[in-house]
Amino acid sequence: MLAIIGAMDEEIELLLGDLREREDLSFPGVTLHRGALDGVPVLLTRGGIGKVNAAMTTTYLLMQGATRVIFTGVAGGVHPELRVGDIVVSTDCVQHDVDVTALGYAVGTVPGELPAWPADDTLRAVALEAARDVEGVRVLDGRVASGDQFIASREGVTRLWTGFGAACAEMEGAAVAQVCAKAGVPFVVIRSVSDTADHDAKVDYREFMPLVARHAKQVVRGMLARL
Ligand code: ADE
Repeated sequence: MLAIIGAMDEEIELLLGDLREREDLSFPGVTLHRGALDGVPVLLTRGGIGKVNAAMTTTYLLMQGATRVIFTGVAGGVHPELRVGDIVVSTDCVQHDVDVTALGYAVGTVPGELPAWPADDTLRAVALEAARDVEGVRVLDGRVASGDQFIASREGVTRLWTGFGAACAEMEGAAVAQVCAKAGVPFVVIRSVSDTADHDAKVDYREFMPLVARHAKQVVRGMLARL
């Protein structure tokens, strides 16, 4: 079954309104909604903010039979060409806040794990096609950098751009990716740019959230029609 995760209410409430034959499954810390979106059986959930919530939610989804995972939400743009409203489809995900360099590991590498988790080629291709149907936005194929930090400075952006080659910054994607990789379950992360992760990030994030949430919904529905 296809699973769709959003980090926050704004990111899934538009999809939830269209879920038919809805059944709610409650677990400690999270509720999963099972039903049909545009006739496609799905599990839909608000996963909460940050890597721990994302990993926990993904685990519940896999245990309820998720065989493909789409993460949708907003991000801070890191690639210099990205503007508010643009869309990033993940090539892969990294955890930029992991630092075991004192033991000789590259920054971002969890010992014993991949340095980056690649997204599924089919889901990526379908997400890119669906994203290109959203009018007036740039669609970028790029690396998603996740960490338990809201990035709101030029220095933060530079660190992610030069250190990781990241296209955008968010707080969940790589945790979903890590859990999916362990289970051999394909995933993709789709992020609409709500801010450019600089000193205006806080203001832009709040102002543009409704617009970018609509873009996210459009991409997910475009994917459902193609899967
Ligand atoms: N999600 C949206 N904007 C973000 C930012 N600037 N940093 C981290 N996560 C975000």
